[in-house]
Amino acid sequence: MKALLLAGGLGTRLRPLTENLPKPMALVGNKPWLEHLIVHLKQQGIGDFVLAVKHYADVIKKRLGDGSSLGVRIEYAIEEDLLGTAGAIKNAEDLLSDRFLVVNSDIIHEISIIPLLEFHRNHNGLVTIGLTEVEDPSQYGVVELDMSGRILRFVEKPNKHEAPSRFINAGIYVMEKEALQWIPKHKEVSIERETFPLLIEKNIGVYGKTINGYWMDMGTKNRYRQLHWDLLDGKFTLPLKEKEQGKGIWLGRNTEIGPGVLLVPPVLIGDEVHIGERSVIGPYAVIGDHCELGRHVRCSETIMWDKCKVHDSTQLNNCIFGYGLEVGSRHILHEAVMNRAVGVIQG
Ligand code: GDD
Ligand code: MG
Repeated sequence: MKALLLAGGLGTRLRPLTENLPKPMALVGNKPWLEHLIVHLKQQGIGDFVLAVKHYADVIKKRLGDGSSLGVRIEYAIEEDLLGTAGAIKNAEDLLSDRFLVVNSDIIHEISIIPLLEFHRNHNGLVTIGLTEVEDPSQYGVVELDMSGRILRFVEKPNKHEAPSRFINAGIYVMEKEALQWIPKHKEVSIERETFPLLIEKNIGVYGKTINGYWMDMGTKNRYRQLHWDLLDGKFTLPLKEKEQGKGIWLGRNTEIGPGVLLVPPVLIGDEVHIGERSVIGPYAVIGDHCELGRHVRCSETIMWDKCKVHDSTQLNNCIFGYGLEVGSRHILHEAVMNRAVGVIQG
C-alpha cells in the first residue's frame, strides 16, 4: 500500500518561516518534519510514497530525491496550480495503489496506522477518516458519527457553536481508488468542503475511526511552538540525533558550551553549536545545527533553525527563527518570528 503525503499548501499561517519553504519541511526537533513522517510510516511497513507538492517543490525534491537515503521509494505528483486537497489526490491518481493512505504532512503524530487499516478493511467503506478529539474543533474538519462509525456529517471549520462534536478529521485517511471517480480532473477541489460532503450525501461509505497517540497540527506559530515544548516534555518522542546528556538536556555532536554557561532544562541543542561564556539557555530552547550564540546571551522558549548567529548579551524569549538568521548584540526580542529572507537584525 502506498502513502500519499499532501505537502503542497502555502503554509500562510507559519509565515515568514514558510516564505521560501514548504511547511512540512519546517524543522521539528532539528530535522525537517517530512523526514520524520516518512520514517514513522516506514516503521509501520510503508515503503512507497507519493508526494503531492507545489509550493517550493524543489526544496523537497532536492532533500528527499527518490527516497533511497531514507530506505523508501518516493514519487512526485507536482501541481502547476494549487489544486486543493482533493485536486492534489486526483492529480496523483496514476501513481496510487487501489487502496492508499493519505496524510496531511503538517500533522505531527505518533499514531499507529494498523487499527485504522483494520477498521477500514472490516467496514468496506470507500474512505476511513482518522479522528482525534480536541477542545476547540472550530479550526478543523468536524464530524458527526453514528454508532457504527459511519460519518453522517462533515463540517469544515464550523463556528464554535455549530460544531456537531469534538471529533475532528486528524488528516489521515485510508481511501479506495474508486472514490476518486467523484473528484473532477484538473480543477481545484477541497476534499473537506466538497468531496467528503458529496460522498456522505450519496451514502457511499465514509467512516471515521478514532486514533490514539499524540496529535498536533503544526500550522500556526503557537502550535508549532507548543509541539516543541511537548517534545521536550516527553509527551511524544522522535528519533533525535542529539543525545540526552542529563535530564532534559539533549546535545548534538561537537557542540561547545562555554565556561559559566547555564543550560536550564529542557533544552535541545544540535550539532556543531557554539555557546559563549555565561549565557543562559532554556528552559524550552531548541537550537539548530551550526548555530553560534555569543557571550551573556539569554534564550528561553525559543526555537532557532540551523546556522543562526546571536551576538553577545542579546535576550530572546518566545522567538522562532528560520535558517541562518543573524541577530546583533544587546537586542531584547520577545515573540519575534523571523526569517533571513525577510529581515536580518544587525547590532
Ligand atoms: N498538494 C497540495 N495541494 N497539498 C495541499 C493543498 C494543495 O492545493 N492544499 C493544502 N495542502 C496540504 C498542506 O500542505 C497540508 O499538509 C495539508 O494539505 C492540509 O492543509 P492545511 O492548510 O494545513 O489545512 P488545515 O490544517 O487548515 O485543515 C486540514 O487539516 C485538519 C487537521 O489538521 C483539514 O483537512 C481539516 O479537515 C483537518 O481537521
Ligand atoms: Mg494543517
